[in-house]
Amino acid sequence: MSKYDNSFTDELRQRLSLVDVISRRVPLKKKGQNYWGCCPFHNEKTPSFSVNEEKGFYHCFGCGEHGDIISFTMKSENIDFKNAISELANMAGIKMPEFKQKTQQQIEAEENYIKITEKAAQKYQELLYQDSGKVALEYIKNRGFSDEMIKKYRIGYAPKSNIISSTFNNTKIDKLTATGLVRVGEFGPYDFFRDKLMFPIFNAYNQIVAFSGRSLDGSEPKYINTTDTELFHKRQTLFGFNFAREYIHRANRSIVVEGQIDAIQMQNHGFGETVAPLGTALTEDHIAILCKSNRNIVFCFDGDTAGQKAAVRACTLVLPFLRETSDVRFAFVTGGKDPDEILKNYGKDAMKQIIDNAVPLVDFLWETVNKNYLINTPGGRTQAEKYLKDSLSKINDKIFQNEINEEYNNRKFNQWHKWKKQEYKSDIEIPDVDIMTQNIIKSIVQKYPEISEKYIDFLVSLNISFDEDVKHTELNIDEAENFIKSFKLQLEIKKLEKKKKELLSNALNGKNYDKELLEKINIELKDYNNKLELLLDNK
Ligand code: UTP
Ligand code: MN
Repeated sequence: MSKYDNSFTDELRQRLSLVDVISRRVPLKKKGQNYWGCCPFHNEKTPSFSVNEEKGFYHCFGCGEHGDIISFTMKSENIDFKNAISELANMAGIKMPEFKQKTQQQIEAEENYIKITEKAAQKYQELLYQDSGKVALEYIKNRGFSDEMIKKYRIGYAPKSNIISSTFNNTKIDKLTATGLVRVGEFGPYDFFRDKLMFPIFNAYNQIVAFSGRSLDGSEPKYINTTDTELFHKRQTLFGFNFAREYIHRANRSIVVEGQIDAIQMQNHGFGETVAPLGTALTEDHIAILCKSNRNIVFCFDGDTAGQKAAVRACTLVLPFLRETSDVRFAFVTGGKDPDEILKNYGKDAMKQIIDNAVPLVDFLWETVNKNYLINTPGGRTQAEKYLKDSLSKINDKIFQNEINEEYNNRKFNQWHKWKKQEYKSDIEIPDVDIMTQNIIKSIVQKYPEISEKYIDFLVSLNISFDEDVKHTELNIDEAENFIKSFKLQLEIKKLEKKKKELLSNALNGKNYDKELLEKINIELKDYNNKLELLLDNK
């Protein structure tokens, strides 16, 4: 089996969700870690067919049938391996490669590759602790790396010389160039990484497939990475994923940061589930990799405009992966450049606060649209609506899509339209207690001391003078009490409405606002209005 080229089937497994594929034939329901449904391979009424998305396996406790995404497609459609692969490739929207067996040569080439990168990492680390690596060691220690961390992440130093070419002088040159560590120029082979702080890049199986080198003398570019090779595809590699895998499972979420040092520092400050893309913008493949474990992601980007842009991109990319159970959020680092700086200057609690305050995707998308378009003009609102519509169409689950759409319709009504009108009306300010009302209240106070006593706190808060005599009220005691009660309610409603307006205008301006509070206010408003109606009806 190992002779076959597994990379394509691996890619299919990576790109496609087993739950999605099985759901096309069998309705599944999540219970605990697994999804359950009625087994398609034997007749049953109670579900004993379980699907483990993360491991990529299904198992029927009734008939013992089990397998993965490929065997499921083969069995359920009664087709052979090749056809199953081709159907799955279709589903994933990727091209079928020519089927070929891995040759002995290829297998050897891969083994050689890993041997070379492995030995190179060892060499780089040796050099970090030798004289030539002094500056590099001092630098990385200054950035808060302990010896333990240096060992774990296998950080090293590539000297100014052609250390790899000379260390591997008995190795065939094409084997070296295959790793990207050595290039051949006019004057022969030379090392790609020179005078760099070296960070190995691991694949998911803990093998070193590439390196990222940071310049130490301030020269640009700040980082250079191995260019893509047979075993390293930057667009499909997440820095730190090999270490994070287990934590992503345990924490039931992943955190994506922008830089590799950020990822390392996050992992070492209690956020083991953190990864970073490698100097490229985030890709669909990156998200697919994370979504294999679970669909809960916190994107934590730098607070600058580049970070904002990256977040919008991540949002667009993640939409097709959303399920109703997904929890995708966006956090922005403020008060520092990046997570590394926050951790260094303020510690992990500050970072936790940033992560905890991450905005849910639905709100982030709404805020993005409100920020980017002139929603106080019909044209701007049209653009915004188009953007929202286009975004929502990327969500696969139609019911979920509709649900979010409804939510946005609500917000459009309350924040774009209805609110505008109320805001306009409220320009004419009515004083809290008009003269007529003041007089009625005064007369009630004078005529019915028992009512005054009961509502003393409220009456005092009105800030009106009860000294002067007024005409006695015609109201009987019940009517008088009703009057006070309803007036009190009206003031309360007014206060709540004012608070609501503030919250909504924050939301409108893309600022953070307390959604929970808004919901609470809405409930309270409804309650008070009902009470008021009852009181007025009693009259
Ligand atoms: P940043 O410019 O935010 O750097 O790039 P950083 O992570 O804060 O780096 P330090 O803290 O100064 O060491 C974010 C990421 O983009 C990639 C790197 O992976 C980096 O971690 N990058 C950046 C490059 O690949 N090349 C560059 O020239 C710069
Ligand atoms: Mn940084």
